[in-house]
Amino acid sequence: MKIKLYNKIAKCGLTRLPATFQVGEEIREENGILVRSADLHETAFPESLAAIARAGAGVNNIPVEKCAEQGIVVFNTPGANANAVKELAVAALLLTSRLVPDAMEYAKTLAGNPDALKLVEKEKSRFVGPEIMGKTLGVIGLGAIGGGVANAALALGMRVLGYDPYASVDAAWALDSAVEKVDDLDRIFKESDYITVHVPSLPSTKGILGGANIAKMRDGVRLLNLARADLAVDADILAGLESGKIAAYYTDFPTGALAGQKGVVATPHLGASTPEAEDNCAVMACDQLADYLVNGNIKNSVNMPAVKLGRSMENRIGVIMKEGTDVEALVAGGNLARGTRGGYTYLLAERDAAFDVEAIKSVGGVIRVTSY
Ligand code: MLT
Repeated sequence: MKIKLYNKIAKCGLTRLPATFQVGEEIREENGILVRSADLHETAFPESLAAIARAGAGVNNIPVEKCAEQGIVVFNTPGANANAVKELAVAALLLTSRLVPDAMEYAKTLAGNPDALKLVEKEKSRFVGPEIMGKTLGVIGLGAIGGGVANAALALGMRVLGYDPYASVDAAWALDSAVEKVDDLDRIFKESDYITVHVPSLPSTKGILGGANIAKMRDGVRLLNLARADLAVDADILAGLESGKIAAYYTDFPTGALAGQKGVVATPHLGASTPEAEDNCAVMACDQLADYLVNGNIKNSVNMPAVKLGRSMENRIGVIMKEGTDVEALVAGGNLARGTRGGYTYLLAERDAAFDVEAIKSVGGVIRVTSY
């Protein structure tokens, strides 16, 4: 198997790939891709490509639907970097509240000044910022990251409102019962002193920190975006900062329009940049990619269903097809697992008798057939 690297992937993950795999940046006719943030939207994929594994949660740098149409399975690593992003979000709450970045800039100007300590006492009133204890934090998106931020904020004495109409059962279990679940997003906007977004970039979430929503927010609200650039509307954020509606905007995605502007606290997409998160993501991405390429098992795909089948028989086959396609008669006689998601069905079958791969391929609706 050939694996092409589009970004640096931690070695502790790469060493988990089978020794027979060829891995590198110059690989051609690859069977798998490992990627972090490289944009693959304009990439022409070879026919040999069966899977893309993203070492991270967001997949907006990958043409997920186009991949599904071509039978290319896209994986991500949900939760693997959640603690890293959570910790930076907690830092962001405090940085924006206590005006730490501005205060640090001022402190730098004192270098070599013999009156530094006197000036510190004179000027410190310019950098007064509120405590977060007792304030309300609105968390939009209660997945592994948002849920972690909500729990941490409770521990710091905040009141926490959480909004997530799509929360998984696992996420709900992990959430502290003191987080107030709200069904109406407007309540988050109206009642929060701080709002943090932890949702993917989707048509339904783009611009969530913008226009009419900002108008509903409390005066002096502080906004945190460690999720994706396009969740915020830059012009509306800048207008809110200018008018005082927004006291501070923390972004991990500084666009040219936002960088350096008053009230903007920015970091260069550092949410998951910890050694621990990079290792966790690499291990998860490599394990999932190898298990698919070697055994046909799918776990944590964003465009195909989760399907797993233990190996006990001689012949094994994976079939990606349009939902409703019928290949039952051609794969019967052994063990079978299948799942359907977003209009696609994945079927993994094994049996002692050989499969007629060409016959399965010729069924209308079948997209890709792979023998394992
Ligand atoms: C993610 O999608 O998991 C984050 O943006 C982290 C990253 O890729 O650096």
